[in-house]
Amino acid sequence: MKKVVILFWGTKGNVERIARKVYAMFDEKDCDLIDVASVDVKTLKNYELMIFGGSTIGAENWFDAKDDNEWNRFFRTAEAQELSHLKIAFFGLGDQVLYPDHFVDGLGVFQEHALKMKATVIGQWPTKGYEFTDSDGMAEGKFFGLAIDEDRQSELTDERVKTWTDGLKKELGI
Ligand SMILES: Cc1cc2nc3c(=O)[nH]c(=O)nc-3n(C[C@H](O)[C@H](O)[C@H](O)COP(=O)(O)O)c2cc1C
Repeated sequence: MKKVVILFWGTKGNVERIARKVYAMFDEKDCDLIDVASVDVKTLKNYELMIFGGSTIGAENWFDAKDDNEWNRFFRTAEAQELSHLKIAFFGLGDQVLYPDHFVDGLGVFQEHALKMKATVIGQWPTKGYEFTDSDGMAEGKFFGLAIDEDRQSELTDERVKTWTDGLKKELGI
């Protein structure tokens, strides 16, 4: 059984592109990459680390239980599983110039669900190097996971992904 599963879902392809970059940082023998719409939640308990990747596309997309939001559908079923022994890390995409008051808010939604699952959240990320005014995706000066801004800072993405995944691999001893 592999150690890591990356679950992703976005709207226009940025999330999937970054999910593939994250996946490329792991050895294939250790990691699976699965669209959250097609994952079998019963298999999740066998991994050591789940990585969630998503974009922030406005509160309405997260908080109502719309059927077209695959994350809502996923969390409804995943939270019925016993996953408290897992580690969870997240990456979230956002745009700090157009949405400075809600930059990567989606990381906060991931955090909330991970805590409901009673899992251990790893992979917090410094807020230094970004310019924004507020975010539900952070506490005590750190984002709950890796913040990626493909709209404004795409030139920093590769380095951020590498540094972040190096930290996760160290935690897992792989
Ligand atoms: C309708 C819409 C609303 C958005 N709202 C936010 C937001 O509240 N906060 C944020 O940081 N980024 C926001 N963004 C920016 C996206 O998160 C960003 O462009 C991301 O790269 C999109 O990835 P995707 O196309 O894979 O979903 C929004 C984008 C759109 C189109």
